[in-house]
Amino acid sequence: MFLRTRPPQWPGLTLAFVSVAALALAFAGGCAHSSANAPVAAAVAAPQPATATPTTTPGDPDVGAAVYARICLGCHQFNGQGLPGAFPPLAGSPLVTDADPGKVIRIVLHGLQGPIQVKGTTFNSIMPPPAPALTDQDIADVLTYVRSDWGNEAAPVTVEAVTAIRAQGARTTPWTWAELEKL
Ligand code: HEC
Repeated sequence: MFLRTRPPQWPGLTLAFVSVAALALAFAGGCAHSSANAPVAAAVAAPQPATATPTTTPGDPDVGAAVYARICLGCHQFNGQGLPGAFPPLAGSPLVTDADPGKVIRIVLHGLQGPIQVKGTTFNSIMPPPAPALTDQDIADVLTYVRSDWGNEAAPVTVEAVTAIRAQGARTTPWTWAELEKL
């Protein structure tokens, strides 16, 4: 009886031992797993700021068309042709389509006064800064529109470009062409 009962005990014991060993392994593995994870997560998180590409938000010409209709159209007219002797044209104005939108951004931020030549005609008037002031997004939108309608073909103006120029400081008087020309 003794000999006949022992053999079945071995598999039972062995099974128990294997189970404990398996549990121990699983536990150790779990620990190794979680402790190995932490440095990996840190390594993935750390370089993100360095590798993130700078974001730029181009103006939306469709929204800009509405801003134009609301703010600029009364002076610069439906087709951007302006009014002879009073308001200079935006259509075909090299200043408007300049690869660097810095000057037009400044004009819309702070206005323009004094003599300026546009398409061979001299204007000597004053454009007050739009009131109430436009947001950076409004200015990016309206300038993106003005630079891409009526035959004008220039790159969109980004919100970030407007923000950067606004950050250079407020003005109490409109720009003059003499000042802008030097920029
Ligand atoms: C109250 C009338 C008025 C409004 C509104 C107005 N402007 Fe002007 N704008 C003028 C006048 C006048 C000049 C010329 C100023 C001068 O003689 O120095 C001018 C000049 C300009 C110029 C430079 C000259 C050119 O034709 O390239 C740009 C660009 C311009 N305006 C864009 C705009 C935009 C964009 C808006 C709307 C956000 C706007 N303006 C709203 C009257 C206006």
